[in-house]
Amino acid sequence: MHNALVEILCCPVCRGSLRWHITEREGGWIQRAEATCSGGHAFEVRDGIADLLHPAHGSSDLWQTGSTALQGVLSQQPDVAARLLAPTPDGLCAADRFFRVFALEARGRMLEALSEEEPASIAVYGVELRRAFEEAAAFVQSSVTPQGVAVDLASGRGTLLRHLLDAPSRLLVATDISLTGLQSLRRRLAVMGDHPPVNLLVADAHRLPFADESIDTLTTWAGLPNIDWEAGQPADTLRELRRVTRGEFYNAQTFYPLDDLVHRHMFEASSLSAIMYETPLLNLMRQTGWAASIEMRQDAMAYPSPPSELFPDWQIDLVPVRETRVSVCVVVGR
Ligand SMILES: C[S@@+](CC[C@H](N)C(=O)[O-])C[C@H]1O[C@@H](n2cnc3c(N)ncnc32)[C@H](O)[C@@H]1O
Repeated sequence: MHNALVEILCCPVCRGSLRWHITEREGGWIQRAEATCSGGHAFEVRDGIADLLHPAHGSSDLWQTGSTALQGVLSQQPDVAARLLAPTPDGLCAADRFFRVFALEARGRMLEALSEEEPASIAVYGVELRRAFEEAAAFVQSSVTPQGVAVDLASGRGTLLRHLLDAPSRLLVATDISLTGLQSLRRRLAVMGDHPPVNLLVADAHRLPFADESIDTLTTWAGLPNIDWEAGQPADTLRELRRVTRGEFYNAQTFYPLDDLVHRHMFEASSLSAIMYETPLLNLMRQTGWAASIEMRQDAMAYPSPPSELFPDWQIDLVPVRETRVSVCVVVGR
């Protein structure tokens, strides 16, 4: 992480300031350090990645679980590995093309993985939905200020982040709750050509390690629908995002139609209604201190994840469970 980040980080538990003991630097970048607050909470930077997760978070890391499962199949089922890692993806079904991208990454074939990712995504999600995603990302890219501190929330594979690499004077921070996810993102960024370095920070969206009003631009792509809501209430989390942001929040996500009762019952059962529907989310943002509006919208048909032939028990996405006309939107909070 860059030295400049030290100024805006705080303890995610008590929000107190951190005392830093830096033991390894490379230029302006901290490779190894320890940080403690006056309340005795301790955090560390290892291999340049800062881990500022609430110590009570525990050790479940879905990226690590997925990666271990994939490695297990690749090492124990040579026939599946051979089909998945064949010289070309020809002959693989849509879902297996998608899983092949992860398998190529696991084998270090990063450039191939990167070049096959978009065709695999189109095969899985369809041209219309992918185009809507791209338009939303392009809207965010052209709207965000090129200066200041920009934090991307729940960065995952960096779908949105890669659109934010074009501004050298921006201090760009990728965050995710998964250290394994950020390590994989770093390998992906390394083959994305020339771009300014990205700060990688393990952080929980429900309890961020940033000082009040320290972020100029907060972004997320499919972050709100996918963060673990067992660990937090939407109103509390939106208030937490408001606390750290002095500038704008660009939230790119998919909304479902309210009259689709199948999905509505599913989202209600998992307490996701306030997040998956436009008006409830806008209302909740307004109640939690944001002036919120939808500034980009593109409707598209979303299809259930296609089945895999090589991994019959694996599914790419849990929703939609049936064809649904969704709205890909960018909600802007100020
Ligand atoms: C579907 S991905 C989001 C896509 C990503 N924004 C992109 O641009 O590619 C969801 C991510 O949320 C992360 N996540 C889940 N719970 C989280 C939390 N409480 N705080 C931060 N990240 C979280 C997961 O590790 C996962 O990487």
